[in-house]
Amino acid sequence: MRRKIVAGNWKMNGSKDLAQTLVSDVRSQAASLDNGVEVVIIPPAIYVGDVVASAGDSLSVGVQNVGQWASGAYTGEVSADMAVDQGCLYALVGHSERRQLFGETDDAVAEKVDRIIGAGLHAVLCVGETLEEREAGKAEAVVASQVKAGLAKVAADDWQRVVVAYEPVWAIGTGKTATAQDAQTMHASIRGVLSEMGAPANEICLLYGGSVKADNAAALFAEPDIDGGLIGGASLIAEDFVSICRSVPAST
Ligand code: 13P
Repeated sequence: MRRKIVAGNWKMNGSKDLAQTLVSDVRSQAASLDNGVEVVIIPPAIYVGDVVASAGDSLSVGVQNVGQWASGAYTGEVSADMAVDQGCLYALVGHSERRQLFGETDDAVAEKVDRIIGAGLHAVLCVGETLEEREAGKAEAVVASQVKAGLAKVAADDWQRVVVAYEPVWAIGTGKTATAQDAQTMHASIRGVLSEMGAPANEICLLYGGSVKADNAAALFAEPDIDGGLIGGASLIAEDFVSICRSVPAST
């Protein structure tokens, strides 16, 4: 049975106050979830300690990025080991904002995945095509190449530490969501790529992200290859976020 996850990526939003109030609201509302979904909060790194303190045992915590090195003179970076030290279980890697705004390459993403898994975290590899790439009919090829490059260093017995999040760049923060059918088609294609790579593709959790809201989550999560979501804007409002968590069908 595949893990089901809904993760809230706060991006560069929030405050110490929100790290306490929002997380304790989510925690109390999520206590009644009975669908087996794992709820993950991914705040800015500086608030990870506050979120871990508020999260209790029922919520997991992650970081949005890690440095690609173990430690050393890398001003401003946070290592995967530090994320573990602070109580994180997950790390995002290769988010399109990091690829586009910070020049993160596929090689750097592969190094980071290696560090994340080596530290004992779960890596959430983000992949997705731009609008131009989709309109040129290249969406599946672009995503396949990001999956292959980003996961190139994963060892055979580490696949259970991998989650892939498909986030079409044109759907992020735009209010335009992929249709459930288009997202399902891409997820099935990603599963095919993982299988070609020798991964246990049917056991790997695949998330969809990009303008997931309380009113469109259920249709997306009903698709057979969509195992949950990576949520941006709607993860900053407890009721909306928990409603999205509730939209994951109970595992059978
Ligand atoms: P939105 O849900 O705000 O579109 O953001 C999606 C995202 O990038 C999550 O990582």
